[in-house]
Amino acid sequence: MEVFYLSLLCLIALFVSVSLHFIFYKKNSGRGSTETLPPGKTGWPVIGESLEFLSTGWKGHPEKFVFDRMSKYSCNVFKTHLLGEKAAVFCGPTCNKFLFSNENKLVQAWWPNSVNKIFPSSTQTSSKEEAIKMRKLLPNFFKPEALKHYVGIMDHIAQCHFATNWENKSQIEVFPLVKRYTFWVACKLFVSVEDPNHVAKFADPFSVLASGLISIPIDLPGTPFNRAIKASNFIRKELVLIIKQRKIDLAEGKASPTQDILSHMLLTSDEDGKFMNELDIADKILGLLIGGHDTASSACTFIVKYLAEIPEIYEGVYKEQKEIAKSKAPGELLNWDDIQKMKYSWNVACEVLRVASPLQGAFREAIADFMFNGFYIPKGWKLYWSVNSTHKNPEFFAEPQKFDPSRFEGSGPAPYTFVPFGGGPRMCPGKEYARLEILVFMHHLVKRFKWEKVIADEKIVVDPMPIPAKGLPAIYFVNLYNSLSPSLVHSFFNHGVRAGKFYIENKALSNKDDFINNKNLSHVGRTT
Ligand code: HEM
Repeated sequence: MEVFYLSLLCLIALFVSVSLHFIFYKKNSGRGSTETLPPGKTGWPVIGESLEFLSTGWKGHPEKFVFDRMSKYSCNVFKTHLLGEKAAVFCGPTCNKFLFSNENKLVQAWWPNSVNKIFPSSTQTSSKEEAIKMRKLLPNFFKPEALKHYVGIMDHIAQCHFATNWENKSQIEVFPLVKRYTFWVACKLFVSVEDPNHVAKFADPFSVLASGLISIPIDLPGTPFNRAIKASNFIRKELVLIIKQRKIDLAEGKASPTQDILSHMLLTSDEDGKFMNELDIADKILGLLIGGHDTASSACTFIVKYLAEIPEIYEGVYKEQKEIAKSKAPGELLNWDDIQKMKYSWNVACEVLRVASPLQGAFREAIADFMFNGFYIPKGWKLYWSVNSTHKNPEFFAEPQKFDPSRFEGSGPAPYTFVPFGGGPRMCPGKEYARLEILVFMHHLVKRFKWEKVIADEKIVVDPMPIPAKGLPAIYFVNLYNSLSPSLVHSFFNHGVRAGKFYIENKALSNKDDFINNKNLSHVGRTT
């Protein structure tokens, strides 16, 4: 009997140890093992590699963070620790495709904690849930009929913007001016605010807010994060005032239910028949204004920069826009068909979005454990896709530092390599809106002006969007084709625009006296 019990005990021990070995072996050689996590380092306690991540951007080379680690650890995926979270950076088109096509299956949208604190939801839900709600509200606003209608409005605003902010000055700072344009358009189309003074009241706090969004979330006086929270509170209060007034105007029939996204948000209920409250709407509008104005103004600023640097490209854009301008009757606004003709201009804009992408990437969160390329990604890890891993990679864009709009001719870049607007279900919903706004800007810019940069090698800062460090000061000159009234031309001369820097049909005049003596100013505005 004793022998039996002893044997039984041995068998049980053997079974338990084999099972344990099997469990541990499985665990160590498969899911959960540290060996199979992506290679990389997690940096300092708490802040991880956030400082390196942010500081490469401040120095103007955000791609350096990614490329250094791609060459050191893995060209597909490496681990790091960013903005307080364990993270894996996914690089290259295969990774982009994987993340974009696994939305809500293996991954979901995630925003850093700083974003949740700067946009505290009045409904106490996460930024993720709020983003889902937001997407449901947007289709009406971005549907093709609505977009067609926006072209004329954008054109009208662009004309007023250039007349009031650019003309009659011999030197300008491009970035702050361009922001006024995109902000004016957004204020008009989102909340029907069009008084430039009213718009100006919001503009500065918005810049403060944008630079605190992707920052280390330290809420102490003077930190970018702290200033962003204050700016967000200020803007939200102003928006609530606009919303209250709109409710009154809607009730009194003074505002239309379809006039802008604000009316739409006030009058649309969710599946349970509940309407959004004022703070909730203010948050949504705030998110849209942020998403929709700094991104496009960064792109427009770099368009001005590259057109100044590469005369052949200016020439190409000018030629295309001049044809469109010539086809318009006096006073006729641009329309949807005109936009479709701006193919070369859009290629130039795309090349700008490649070399100076307004957003450097976006985060996701793993909603399940999964394996990717032989590496284990634990549930809860944050995943970051990076535009620069493809945009600045010679494997996908030959000579990536070269500005070359012809990359977008024909079938254009390979799938998942050109991703300034992201991809998959979360792709930027404002993509078409941004295209219209940028092309309308380019039309008026080249039709009216030529310009030179004041600082030849102005530094670029990426925080979180790329901008020239001094705002891109430029001296601009008047291009006299079809744009100016005689009185305006005189006024240019009187305001010190540099002599010898006037153009007709894009050809420089030798000096202003030649121009005055030889041209009949009453005919300025027509091809010479
Ligand atoms: C050149 C201009 C723009 C660029 C480069 C850009 C780029 C992006 C990118 C990369 C994303 C993140 C996608 C992701 O999470 O994977 C995004 C999201 C978003 N964008 Fe844009 N965007 C631009 C203009 C706009 C405009 C004009 C609007 C609104 C009018 C807008 C509204 C949004 C919104 C609401 C989201 C969040 C979508 C979501 O979470 O589902 N964007 N954008």
